[in-house]
Amino acid sequence: MTRLMRTVVVKSRRVNPILLLVLFSLAVVFTAPFSVRAAQAKITVDVNKPGLAFPPTLHGLFFEDINYGADGGLYAELVQNRSFEDREPLYAWREAANAGAKGRIAVESESPLNANNLHFLRIYVADPGNTGYGVVNAGFDGIVLHAGDHYLFSVYSRRRAGDAAALDIVLEGGDGRILASTNFMGIADSWRNFEATLVSSESVTNARLVVLATQPGVVDVDMVSLFPEKTFKSRRNGLRADLAQALADLKPGFLRFPGGCVVEGKDFSNMYRWKDTIGDVSERKQNWNVWQDNQSPEYNQTYGLGFFEYFQFCEDIGAEPVPVVNCGMCCQARHGPPVPLNQIGPYVQDALDLIEFANGPTNSVWGARRAALGHATPFNLKFIAVGNEQWQQVYFDRYDVFHRAIKAKYPHIKIISDAGPLPNDALWQFAWNKFRSGTQADVVDEHYYVPPRWLYENVNRYDSYDRNGPKIFVGEFAAHDGAARRNNLRAALAEAAYMTGLWKNADEVLMASYAPLFAKAGHDQWHPNLIWFDNSRIELTPSYYVQAQFAQNRPDMVLPGQVEAPKVVESHAGMIGVGTWNTRAEYKDIRVTASDGRVLYASDFTKGLEGWTTAGGDWSAADGALRQNSGGENVRAVLGNPAWTNYTLTLKARKLGGDEGFLVLFQTPDIDHPVWWNLGGWGNTEHSLQGGSLVENHVPGSIEANRWYDIRIELRDDKVKAFLDDRLIHEADNRPIATLYAAAGRDQRTGELVLQMVNPFAESTTASVILNGVGKLGYKARMITLTNPKPDAENSLDKPDTVVPQTSDFSGVAPEFTCILAPYSLTTLRIPQD
Ligand code: AHR
Repeated sequence: MTRLMRTVVVKSRRVNPILLLVLFSLAVVFTAPFSVRAAQAKITVDVNKPGLAFPPTLHGLFFEDINYGADGGLYAELVQNRSFEDREPLYAWREAANAGAKGRIAVESESPLNANNLHFLRIYVADPGNTGYGVVNAGFDGIVLHAGDHYLFSVYSRRRAGDAAALDIVLEGGDGRILASTNFMGIADSWRNFEATLVSSESVTNARLVVLATQPGVVDVDMVSLFPEKTFKSRRNGLRADLAQALADLKPGFLRFPGGCVVEGKDFSNMYRWKDTIGDVSERKQNWNVWQDNQSPEYNQTYGLGFFEYFQFCEDIGAEPVPVVNCGMCCQARHGPPVPLNQIGPYVQDALDLIEFANGPTNSVWGARRAALGHATPFNLKFIAVGNEQWQQVYFDRYDVFHRAIKAKYPHIKIISDAGPLPNDALWQFAWNKFRSGTQADVVDEHYYVPPRWLYENVNRYDSYDRNGPKIFVGEFAAHDGAARRNNLRAALAEAAYMTGLWKNADEVLMASYAPLFAKAGHDQWHPNLIWFDNSRIELTPSYYVQAQFAQNRPDMVLPGQVEAPKVVESHAGMIGVGTWNTRAEYKDIRVTASDGRVLYASDFTKGLEGWTTAGGDWSAADGALRQNSGGENVRAVLGNPAWTNYTLTLKARKLGGDEGFLVLFQTPDIDHPVWWNLGGWGNTEHSLQGGSLVENHVPGSIEANRWYDIRIELRDDKVKAFLDDRLIHEADNRPIATLYAAAGRDQRTGELVLQMVNPFAESTTASVILNGVGKLGYKARMITLTNPKPDAENSLDKPDTVVPQTSDFSGVAPEFTCILAPYSLTTLRIPQD
């Protein structure tokens, strides 16, 4: 929970009246206070009416090197820290001294391979023994080898003048057995590249690469590399075939790259500079990864998967490249600085050069570079994103400079602007005010990581966006289910429901991508993620299958129509609590009363903090009150049962000192995910409800010190009301969730009608489908269903098939037919038209 959560209510924008006619809208028939059993719903599709053209780019991908997505992941290199440039230069390496061998190893930097690759390994061999002295690399948690497969080994090496030098290269299993080997003679006084193909005799997941110097003396090595020959499309310096194929299978309309926070970097030296990522891999200037953490402190970017490989991969999988360039700013969330405005010229030039690298003729400087790398034909770049997730004036000052320069030189390139990190906060509002008042953007990139419930409640978000304004790129989105944020079916179905809303706004939403894409088990800085993997296995998550089901069944046209379905109001439940932000305060007479009058809790601080759990701060029971006496941010104390619902929380609060006012928690699932009423937030200027699926609504307000306030929060099935000194300040509706979300389209190529239908609940929904104006239909439709009786169900590397789509025939399609939607399901119907 950060102060980024500030927001104001979303102002409604002008709605296109034609859109209203065309929209395949969700209509409420009735709302029910409690769970609806075996709901009946009606889907009407106006097959005979004009629809919305479906952008081929709507379903796409966002790749960022987070969670070991690149090195150790999609990039197929098997050796970790191959060029000894990690901050810990011998990271992933250790000495290999077989019986009798003597020597030492050191990372040196005199006369390096090149100016970007400043370190190399020096092996001093006193006595090579029987088998040699050198180093071992176990790759990224072990090297996977397949029996009979070919592996391309390469290394740069040189000897000390006058020494006789030779290298033995061995692939050995975990038990030390030799699985493949080669050797190199002819090592000279200056750097020379050696290559050999090794064929593994066995399949193992824990192999090691051993580099042994077999002559006494000194030998240097650098860029020690091992690649499977079987990369995606068999490319050299290529991508791990199974992971790349999983992406190709999603038929992505675009691929956003390379980030994410990685683009911004923590500081100037950590910013992503695309020019460091092309050319000979030994000359790429690697950097540390902004996602380094305690679990992966040596997380680095070799840039082996650089901009050339990226463009090539886009071409291989038919995706439009959507590069993100650094806009002269470091990561604002990490308090990184901006480049002074009068110094951003080189950053703008980098963006222009990137476009030239992608599209320029071969007689241009960067077009020639591309051609020299083996791709004379342009990559036909159409989009460029200026910055990732930046905000406020500091961003737009820089964005405008980029926009002017890019449009002046490349008027047809579509420019994507940021809109901050959240879907409806003040930073987002600031950005949209810009676009409404003259800031030019072809596309605006909105990001949101939100509870599943938010996605259901906001399925119609884009209905009201101004069709005369910029198009939308949902550049990063995912449902975060509760504190655990698991990749479960519940989250995936919410994403699916939300995507029906994207389809019906296909005239406004140009692109959307789930984030993040990859996570390596044991090296994840973030979850949930679309695809998990280890060195040999892949786990496709329910969210992956949702993306697949939508992308693989994308229509060319979204058809108008209606969905009529009962709606369910799910009770908001959760604990209560109090907190502060840079403020000292005390709370007393805290009482939780159920709607039937039962007292669930009445404070008695003579017994200390009994029942309370705290996070941060300095809490004590004093003078019958709960006192928080430190100035820290985001300090909380919670109490009660996460299942409490329909209650009234009353308390008295007094500010003792500090910058702000009170945080009063309610409907809080756990202490890490507070839902609160923020009184005197934003430097004691505003009040707002915040957290969970609440839409923030800021009103001006401040809290005085040294006086007691009466606070009351009424939590009901359909509403939250918040009172300060008996004055109603905030009221938020608990929006219902429909028992069916749907969208329909036509695949012009096959003539099929495509229906996407989501049932979020535990009971089946019987949908009557009416295809207005439809011609002759084929009898059998193809039905693809993603379901599981348990919404918590998820896949794992060990059990990847718990939630997978099932395909079956669906007989009996007619202009009017009935379809039963399984509990917790996404169902796709492909209906042939004769
Ligand atoms: O997707 C993970 C991160 O979320 C991205 O790096 C950033 O853009 C966002 O904050």
